[in-house]
Amino acid sequence: MSKVLIATEKPFSPVAVKGIKEVTDAAGYELALLEKYTEKAQLLDAVKDADALIIRSDKVDADVLDAAKQLKIVVRAGAGYDNIDLEAATAHKVVAMNTPGQNANSVAELVFGLLVYAKRNFFNGTSGTELKGKRLGILAFGNVGRNVARIAKGFEMEVLAYDAYCPAEVIEAAGVKAVASQDELFEQSDIVSLHIPATAETRESINRALVNKLPKGGILVNTARKEVINEIELIELMNERTDLKFVTDIKPDADHKFAEFEGRYFTTPKKMGAQTAEANINAGIAAAHQIVDFLEKGVTKFQVNK
Ligand code: 3PG
Repeated sequence: MSKVLIATEKPFSPVAVKGIKEVTDAAGYELALLEKYTEKAQLLDAVKDADALIIRSDKVDADVLDAAKQLKIVVRAGAGYDNIDLEAATAHKVVAMNTPGQNANSVAELVFGLLVYAKRNFFNGTSGTELKGKRLGILAFGNVGRNVARIAKGFEMEVLAYDAYCPAEVIEAAGVKAVASQDELFEQSDIVSLHIPATAETRESINRALVNKLPKGGILVNTARKEVINEIELIELMNERTDLKFVTDIKPDADHKFAEFEGRYFTTPKKMGAQTAEANINAGIAAAHQIVDFLEKGVTKFQVNK
């Protein structure tokens, strides 16, 4: 009997776990749960006899793969898979997958939660401003970016986007203005929302020179990855430009420094973008189906390692 382990430091909603169990039960698999673990040792112990693993932002490195002697597949229930050591997975003959798009609406909705909060001066009682008529720049135009664009239109915002890998025609076909570079996006937007993955190319790419292109009163929203921001440079810039705001659901390493920008900075205690029942259900159940399809039929459609 195959064993599937859900290892989530930040748990799925119970209804999502129930949905996953229905899928694994129907396949005749055993389902184990490791939630809210605090030590890596707990994960190393739990993976020992797992054939398949479902994770969220949980780190799967060479140690975890070494410990998981029977592991055949790990599915990141979500979009970004920078938390999996893909080379080590390949070396261990473990297939790694993600579940693209399944939590995109949830992340996109949070962008507007953060934005309304920032635009209303963090609900401090003073008059804020509206989103209607403001220019929203989306970097980049993947599943989350596209959902952000859709919702922004409901707010009657002007929507712009830049994506190095998505043709301008695709962006324009969605009724969004495609700009030619990141620089142009920051220059032409009142607000920029980040939706780029953390890669060698994007790491610390959101730097002082780029953010400084935002016009007066600009807002930077990050629901992507903390690694894409050059925190030292952003702090320097926010010290100089007291008009800038930064809101994120991914606590920066320098949170204590950013916290000094009272009324211009907000973060959540945990990453909250995908923390809805719907996103948990969509991504968790998709992960379970992908595991069954892989173990039973060898389907590798969403494989991200080679
Ligand atoms: C993702 O990459 O899917 C999101 O960042 C959500 O991450 P989480 O599952 O840790 O909330």
